[in-house]
Amino acid sequence: MFLLRSAQRFQIRRQYSSKMRLKSKSNELSSMDIRNIFLDYFTQEHNHKFIRSSPVVPFCDPTVPFVNAGMNQFKNIFLGNAAPPCGSAVNSQKCIRVGGKHNDLNVIGTDGYHHTFFEMLGNWSFGDYFKEKACVTAWDLLTNFYQINPNRLYVTYFGGDTKLGLPPDLECKEIWRSIGVPLDRILPFGANENFWEMGASGPCGTCTEIHYDHLPNIEPNQRARFVNGGLPDLTELWNIVFIEYNRTSDGTIETLKDKFIDTGMGFERLVAVLQGKSSNYDSDLFLPIFDAISKESGKAPYSGTFDVNDSNYQLDYTYRLVADHVRMSSVCIADGIYPQLKYQL
Ligand code: ALA
Repeated sequence: MFLLRSAQRFQIRRQYSSKMRLKSKSNELSSMDIRNIFLDYFTQEHNHKFIRSSPVVPFCDPTVPFVNAGMNQFKNIFLGNAAPPCGSAVNSQKCIRVGGKHNDLNVIGTDGYHHTFFEMLGNWSFGDYFKEKACVTAWDLLTNFYQINPNRLYVTYFGGDTKLGLPPDLECKEIWRSIGVPLDRILPFGANENFWEMGASGPCGTCTEIHYDHLPNIEPNQRARFVNGGLPDLTELWNIVFIEYNRTSDGTIETLKDKFIDTGMGFERLVAVLQGKSSNYDSDLFLPIFDAISKESGKAPYSGTFDVNDSNYQLDYTYRLVADHVRMSSVCIADGIYPQLKYQL
């Protein structure tokens, strides 16, 4: 039985909310608190093993230019080539999405929620549980522990695909309904949005996503049609993948021997949500970097505009670009990736 009894749940929730919020001066959770709550939730409440982030270098895997998701280090477990270290795991994985199937390089700085480098908060099941527990725990953590208003959330599920030969995932839809998500917030999408693949080949499966609406008090039927529509104020927060297949190098899909859970929540997006910011760059993960850039360069402070007609846009865009790339380069250098040099120094 994985659902916590309500009294126990209330106690844990109260403990997190008051302890964490008291610690911060502004009644706001810090990014470090937010990461810790995620890791504590799965290790302490659901018996997951904490596994450190792997380096961003994809050792022994030529199919991706950088580690692009939390599941990369578990790929051989999914493929049946390695034994799982535990029944379920949790971590915060350093990811870089430059080059390959997941490449966000060209949009960096133009919006507030894509980054070349980001942390992916993830939990995995290597046989302990499958769809239901993955959805229930995600919803419980977001709405009870982080106390996100459920009226800000939409969920999506795989709506079927003839080319893949897969029917709609009605089991997933029913799970969300039984959790209490209203039907007009449970939306079907095709393979582009709800069939997740690591790269041109590798483990894959249908997925269900949780999206967050930064605009309050909007009737669902007015905003539901914008889910997956590229709006900066209605963005994907958490992806829960039901790994059941492998895409081979010749492009065919084969069914794996076992089924796995692979989830990934955008840490920077979650921090922005919980700190009440509409852009990740306004959170405590980026503001200190902007301050340092401003101090060193003597430029006017970052003003947070995304309006290309605003006279501050070019400077703010450049701030975002530099801060994003500084984070990415720092992590790369720390993990042993250096810019290619013509001559070895
Ligand atoms: N592997 C999934 C993703 O990266 C969770 O979105």
